[in-house]
Amino acid sequence: MPTNAIEVENLTKRFGSFTAVDHINFEVKQGEIFGFLGANGAGKSTTIRMLCALLQSSEGTARVGGNDINGAPERVKENIGYMSQKFSLYEDLTVEENINFYGRVYGLTYWDIQKRKEWVLQIANLRGREKSITGTLSGGWKQRLALGCAVLHRPKIVFLDEPTSGVDPMMRRRFWELINDLSAEGVTVLVTTHFLEEAEYCNDIILINAGKIVAGGSPKELKHNYIKNPILEVSSDNVIEAMARIEKEPWAIETSVFGTHLHVSVEDEIFARARIREILAANNIQCSQLDRITPSLEDVFIYLLDQETKKSAA
Ligand SMILES: Nc1ncnc2c1ncn2[C@@H]1O[C@H](COP(=O)(O)OP(=O)(O)O)[C@@H](O)[C@H]1O
Ligand SMILES: [Mg+2]
Repeated sequence: MPTNAIEVENLTKRFGSFTAVDHINFEVKQGEIFGFLGANGAGKSTTIRMLCALLQSSEGTARVGGNDINGAPERVKENIGYMSQKFSLYEDLTVEENINFYGRVYGLTYWDIQKRKEWVLQIANLRGREKSITGTLSGGWKQRLALGCAVLHRPKIVFLDEPTSGVDPMMRRRFWELINDLSAEGVTVLVTTHFLEEAEYCNDIILINAGKIVAGGSPKELKHNYIKNPILEVSSDNVIEAMARIEKEPWAIETSVFGTHLHVSVEDEIFARARIREILAANNIQCSQLDRITPSLEDVFIYLLDQETKKSAA
């Protein structure tokens, strides 16, 4: 068994004259949770479909579980699980019928399907709902059923394409527990998301923008490598006004709003603290808290995407 579950080399996809995925390279280690991050249209789904041997690459290649996506597409497909962005479940079938259907698609025997069905019902917490029509289930239930169906045949590598979009935050957290359980069993999980805070749950991450990889590493490495300046968090009931005042200052390197907080990246913490207090007081903007914080991955990604925008504007 190779040490890397996935090895991607110059993988490229062009649709006519448009390049959706542009010479990307990365490796995914066996058993890890690998996050594939990027905004809508960045090229995540196109990459996944090439890695699942569902879409031919225009250039470059990849090995998935040791099999080349161009040379041995059928071997690739047999050894992976894939949960597409649209959850590919049959809405008019019952929960049980969907499981049976996917079991047959993967070529499992009747008895294997029975055993795996019990497992899916348990992990997806769907016991008692076997006869429910899938279309009547809420997003969170469908999502877990879709994951269960994608791993019925015990693949060693699974691709999850935006599994948490359209699912409420509570269910999203539970879904990540499920992903952790799979990883603990040695399954390699490549997951895409546009919820940046979910990247914190991954062992390694890459960030893709307009088909190109912008950065990669563990969450810790990314924070360490890209965020060198102190970040101050300003809590205020009027963050918009606070931001408008602060971002004009030459010492405020970067400002961004996170709900009722403002993150300000600065050169000199002591100086900036004093100036922020002065500016807010002078403008009658209440400030309930002012703290230096550990950067989040969102700070890192905002910084990186900002750099990209500046580059393409130049
Ligand atoms: N079959 C296709 N034909 C033409 N353009 C496509 C096709 N599939 C995707 N694209 C384009 O490629 C880009 C990347 O899409 P996609 O991989 O779906 O992004 P993501 O999953 O990151 O949101 C988008 O601009 C999208 O419109
Ligand atoms: Mg997509």
